[in-house]
Amino acid sequence: MMLKPFLALAVAQLGAAQELMRFGCSQLTLDRIDPLVNPGQLPSPHMHQIIGGNSFNASMEPSSLDPARDATCTTCSFAEDFSNYWTPNLYFRARNGTFKNVPIFANLGLGQIKGGMTVYYIRGYRASDRVTTFQPGFRMLIGDPANRDAAKVPRQLCFRCEENYQQQPFGGAPCTGADTPLFPKKPCHGGWRVTITFPTCWDGKTLDTANHQDHVAYPAQGTFESGGACPASHPVKIPQVMYEIMFDTGGKFADTNEWPEDGSQPFVWAMGDTTGAGIHGDYLFGWKGDALQRAMDMKCNGVNCPGMARQADSVSNQCAKAQMAVEPVGDDGWLTELPGNWDLS
Ligand SMILES: *[C@@H]1O[C@H](CO)[C@@H](O)[C@H](O)[C@H]1NC(C)=O
Ligand SMILES: *[C@@H]1O[C@H](CO)[C@@H](O)[C@H](O)[C@H]1NC(C)=O
Repeated sequence: MMLKPFLALAVAQLGAAQELMRFGCSQLTLDRIDPLVNPGQLPSPHMHQIIGGNSFNASMEPSSLDPARDATCTTCSFAEDFSNYWTPNLYFRARNGTFKNVPIFANLGLGQIKGGMTVYYIRGYRASDRVTTFQPGFRMLIGDPANRDAAKVPRQLCFRCEENYQQQPFGGAPCTGADTPLFPKKPCHGGWRVTITFPTCWDGKTLDTANHQDHVAYPAQGTFESGGACPASHPVKIPQVMYEIMFDTGGKFADTNEWPEDGSQPFVWAMGDTTGAGIHGDYLFGWKGDALQRAMDMKCNGVNCPGMARQADSVSNQCAKAQMAVEPVGDDGWLTELPGNWDLS
């Protein structure tokens, strides 16, 4: 097994994090629902890949739905995490104009997890760093699906082009080095590592806002990593939530004979974005009781958090949820149009 050293490396290279909880969640479903941006809509405008608790639904109003109470299983390694985490899925467009869903594979060191994402909750980079975890009903969004401008992509959302399945290039903080705010433009034989990092300051009272962003903010000066203080408007320091998604852009998707002859991008986000700048992620808190606060108050090392309930990959892989907006997602055959009939832009 080659994986153990890589996990150690992964954790070490993220910086000497004092508190770094890192775990995998397998795919729950691919579905055209979005309880945050398009509550109640079936189908929502674009397709998503979704992980976490199986109470995920087209509408998840906190007054009627509590994931920690209503979910019966979770695809996450921590058995008390019924949160939902989702992003658009990615398509490959062949030369003949048809689309296929780009599969997702487990991150290094995360065992047998089927697809999905790696989730991080980071308390800070000094032993003294402390955070207040989320309240039931809390949700947020980062990034903008309509954006096509690299300059408007938030600083900690990016793509890394991996040359091989040992994930080289490796190391360096996410979204530094050769990482890009737009889709990589060359074949990436080891896949793309997509990073989505959320803001770390909360207004202390609002569970959600109209744009799902105004109740959270970045530090007033400096960064979360440098220990920057939160602004007076958003005084409560919350854990840094980060997603990593490994899209398998290798193999047949790296064959440039199938790429557009005019040199344009063969990859496209589910909402028709061929630039990558529409990169975004959604978060809906659903940990049971004070489990997340307990995790943040102790010293976790990757997936090892003393006293936290874990489940085997064989168990979390079995948690699934039937598609609600029933339609082909582009896993088996090739689709003649994107779900939702998006134009490319
Ligand atoms: C989704 O919501 C509908 C309407 O509230 C409900 O009938 C259904 O049972 C929910 N599905 C799941 C899987 O929770
Ligand atoms: C389109 O291209 C893909 C990839 O080469 C191929 O598998 C598929 O059969 C093609 N579809 C049509 C209708 O030609």
